[in-house]
Amino acid sequence: MTPEGLARAAEILARAERVVVSSGAGMSKESGIPTFRDAMEGLWANFDPQELATEQGFRRDPRRVWGWYAWRRQRIAEARPNAGHFAVAEMATVIPSLAVVTQNVDGLHTDAGSADVIEVHGSIRRVKCLDRGHLFSGDLPPYEDGEEQDPPACPVCGSPLRPDVVWFGEMLPVAAVERAWSLAGRCDAMLLIGTSGTVWPAAELPLVARRAGARIIEVNPVPSELTHAADVFLQGPAGQVVPTLLDEIRRRKLLGG
Ligand code: OAD
Repeated sequence: MTPEGLARAAEILARAERVVVSSGAGMSKESGIPTFRDAMEGLWANFDPQELATEQGFRRDPRRVWGWYAWRRQRIAEARPNAGHFAVAEMATVIPSLAVVTQNVDGLHTDAGSADVIEVHGSIRRVKCLDRGHLFSGDLPPYEDGEEQDPPACPVCGSPLRPDVVWFGEMLPVAAVERAWSLAGRCDAMLLIGTSGTVWPAAELPLVARRAGARIIEVNPVPSELTHAADVFLQGPAGQVVPTLLDEIRRRKLLGG
């Protein structure tokens, strides 16, 4: 992150009325949650992500897929928001309107205090049944680290339970998408944090904002597929860059813009 980049980004955000923060897996990296691709480690190293994150994969081997998600759910339950999540939540107190659109299923933006969070890929904290989508709110069986596990049956219809996340090949939740795309089309600035920009349609969001005239600020330790669309690229980890950016926005607001 250069001082010039930081100053430019802070100026854009200090003047903005409507901001959308769009986050991906890199946002939660400093909370100890492996990104989707990093998660293919240890016991799961030999599996194809497509096998673990598709309906076909689940139908073929429900024990393996349920076990993988139970393992991730356990890691996420132990995780805490990092300084980046807290800075995003704080940013909503200095910008007139700020919403968070996240590809993450870990719920950490909400834990950090962000009030308006749109989860376009669902939430690992929720469970629903495979065939009819009945939400399940009971207790899940205890999980032994690293093991495969049979998915429990839906108490309403008996179909196996699955995480309420978006798998490859599935539609994104309609209400979340409508709101996210509408906010992107009306914002003054989008702060893009920790996404590789490779998963569609989420990767289209900054392009929608840009077409509508918004400024795009990106935070990532390395350039992504979306860096070409960014007005300002702030290189570095979210847990360091976003709090620094927040301090700079506050300073400018105090100085009157
Ligand atoms: P990826 O795992 O594709 O990319 C993570 C991004 O975070 C990369 O660009 C990293 O450089 C960046 N990154 C790493 N550490 C960071 C840090 N400390 N601070 C900021 N950025 C950091 O994650 P996403 O783009 O979110 O989809 O794509 C993940 C999606 O793909 C998931 O939502 C999931 C998966 O397939 C579905 O399940 C539909």
